[in-house]
Amino acid sequence: MLNEAYTEQTMNRLSEKVEAMIGQIGDKTPHVAGQDGKYDSTRDNWWTSGFWPGLLWLMHDVTGKEVFKKVAWGWDAKLEKCFSEYPVELHHDVGFQFLPTAVIKYELTGDQEGLRIGLEAANYLAGRFNPVGNFIRAWNGSNAIGWAIIDCLMNIPLLFWASRTTNDPRYKHIAMKHADTFLKHAIRDDGSVCHILSFNPETGEFIEPIGGQGLSGTSAWSRGNSWALHGLAIAFRCTGEERYLQAAKRVAHYFIAALPEDHVPYWDFRVESLEGEPRDTSAGAIAASGLIELSQLTPASESRIYRSASERILYSLSENYATWDQPNHEAILIEGTGHKPANSNVNVSLIYGDYYFAEGFAKLSGWRNRIF
Ligand code: GLY
Repeated sequence: MLNEAYTEQTMNRLSEKVEAMIGQIGDKTPHVAGQDGKYDSTRDNWWTSGFWPGLLWLMHDVTGKEVFKKVAWGWDAKLEKCFSEYPVELHHDVGFQFLPTAVIKYELTGDQEGLRIGLEAANYLAGRFNPVGNFIRAWNGSNAIGWAIIDCLMNIPLLFWASRTTNDPRYKHIAMKHADTFLKHAIRDDGSVCHILSFNPETGEFIEPIGGQGLSGTSAWSRGNSWALHGLAIAFRCTGEERYLQAAKRVAHYFIAALPEDHVPYWDFRVESLEGEPRDTSAGAIAASGLIELSQLTPASESRIYRSASERILYSLSENYATWDQPNHEAILIEGTGHKPANSNVNVSLIYGDYYFAEGFAKLSGWRNRIF
């Protein structure tokens, strides 16, 4: 059972594990580890490149160990090169890249380069806003000019941060317009969500939902649900606007109700039969951390629902899907699923699953310096 002692023990295990990962990962930019337990090294402009340094910053802040800070320090400068090296390929995921690098570095140390790079990323993200459709464009490529995706609810905290930091509300207005578009078109009455929304980029007219990494435009991709519940909880924390809290709760209720017996989601909640389908531990970890946010934003009478759901997920991940007894395994969690419809990265370890698992336990142990 998850209690204070279990949380403390897990934080100690995480500290040891992440310290070992420093040697194993070296100068890789980790994204996926397969059955051999070795992380690959992806290109720096890939959306996941901030999570390894983010894990290091988090562990530094929680444990005070200098080694984590030392290894994390240069990552914002390394990733900043993406602005010049990949000017066309860069995307809306600068939130995922720069919140856990430049922004947390600035917030924890006051480093002015972190501030400059964080604002550069926020300006870039704001520049992807389509003002007739009220959405932030997700990806590049001619088929995606009018596409926005649910994951971006976790990129817009970069805009909330930029408004708070510069005292300029423009960033926040863009973030809220984007979030409102998703409340209107992506979050269904039952709390399930779709991955992609397609718009006419000239007129802003909504065209259709698209399945993307989920089963279909009417299914419920579990990681999309977890991005939505976590992102909307943060949107409420940053704006105080009740509609975001209500939407986050609705998505959370669907997510909790759809979990299987061991509390770790399959990759899509609407597959016809679970037989032979892979899980996505990363969706569980992202949601668990988001549920702790919700538990801290709601009165006691409600908060225990979210807190205990989060604890059940984190406990199951730690007991059934963690690599504690495999010291040579470079990842923390197994059984993540990246993109099932493309049969890409199925039943693997994912660096963002590792990050949010650690974030969830850090929050349970009292960590309050979340990225945003
Ligand atoms: N942001 C892409 C994903 O969740 O796979």
